Amino acid sequence: MEWRNSLTDLLQVAYPLMQAPMLHIATPAMVAAVSNAGALGSLPVGGQSPERVRTLIREVKSHTAKPFAVNLFAHPHPGQVDPAQGARMHRVLRLIGEGYQLEWEQPALENLPIFLAQDQIPVLLEEKVPVVSFTFGVLEPQVLDAFRKAGVVTMGTATCLDEALRLQEQGVSAVIAQGTEAGGHRGAFLNPEAPPQIGLAALVRGIVRAVRVPVIAAGGIMDGAGLAAAFALGAQGVQLGSAFLRCPESAAPPAYKAAVATSQDQSTVLTKAFTGRWGRAIRNEFTRQMAPHEALVLPYPVQEVLTRALREKVGPEDVAKVFPLWAGQAAYLARELPASQIVAAVLQEAEAILWPDFQ
Ligand SMILES: Cc1cc2nc3c(=O)[nH]c(=O)nc-3n(C[C@H](O)[C@H](O)[C@H](O)COP(=O)(O)O)c2cc1C
Repeated sequence: MEWRNSLTDLLQVAYPLMQAPMLHIATPAMVAAVSNAGALGSLPVGGQSPERVRTLIREVKSHTAKPFAVNLFAHPHPGQVDPAQGARMHRVLRLIGEGYQLEWEQPALENLPIFLAQDQIPVLLEEKVPVVSFTFGVLEPQVLDAFRKAGVVTMGTATCLDEALRLQEQGVSAVIAQGTEAGGHRGAFLNPEAPPQIGLAALVRGIVRAVRVPVIAAGGIMDGAGLAAAFALGAQGVQLGSAFLRCPESAAPPAYKAAVATSQDQSTVLTKAFTGRWGRAIRNEFTRQMAPHEALVLPYPVQEVLTRALREKVGPEDVAKVFPLWAGQAAYLARELPASQIVAAVLQEAEAILWPDFQ
């Protein structure tokens, strides 16, 4: 079927479907498989060193000549953390770790090497990546301008109408509308401490009516019915994350994949206990134990540094209890299939709904 629209023209892809960037989960092999299938793979590089970013981009390029996106985190530097606050959070985590007979030293929190989008952007320009998506903020207009001049398509993440309008004002090529159903971090940037929790239907409809650029729907879309519904709301494209969690190309550990496979519609929770930013994950021992301590959580990504020290000590049998099992509200519908087959299945299902006469 002819899927051509303003987004496929912009991205130079066959299908208006994007695999969501998923830090620590979406491997270069997944990105390339999705792009080779005619959709758009997205390589997550949030927080990675410029050298690592270059290595990952080159790995994707070695597997595909098709367009793909590179995804940045556009948050500000958290500043220095009060040492007393750091020690307090470490004590909470040590108490949790004692339940698993684990001990470790508090990682140093002064002068953490925090890589921001601005450190990575020169690499993206040098490597001539075709598409850049970002979340947690807005890139500066001059940066968006530099990308535009270099022929790079830019896409920012919005969780409410005001964020979408801000992104358009700054000059993005397209807006990703992230509903509260979405797995992983909320992309909110106007009020990240109390992020909007607008459902995808309400969000997409409102944004589509208000902005001129193409809108990509993200959150809870797992199959062709979800894609068709998003298109009916006026979206020009969809971005699926949880749908790819159980793929062989996903770097999720086996216990994470098993937790996704056995999850249900009420399994997820919004938490900032893992990283300091609100995100949606499958409820586990860690989210339950941390719930009373939310007020002590440190800013992103300092909290992540502290909790990672605990995770590094955990044995495979306890991974599902302690790791962030980022997943959306519909993750229980994720299929255990190679990434290219998920792309093909979603498109075929959507075609049967959108163009039944042509089946
Ligand atoms: C495991 C996981 C990791 C994620 N990491 C990122 C990321 O690095 N950058 C980003 O922009 N979005 C990230 N997201 C959010 C996705 O871009 C997208 O909004 C979400 O997956 C859509 O909802 P769904 O999971 O219900 O499909 C992540 C989502 C998941 C599930």
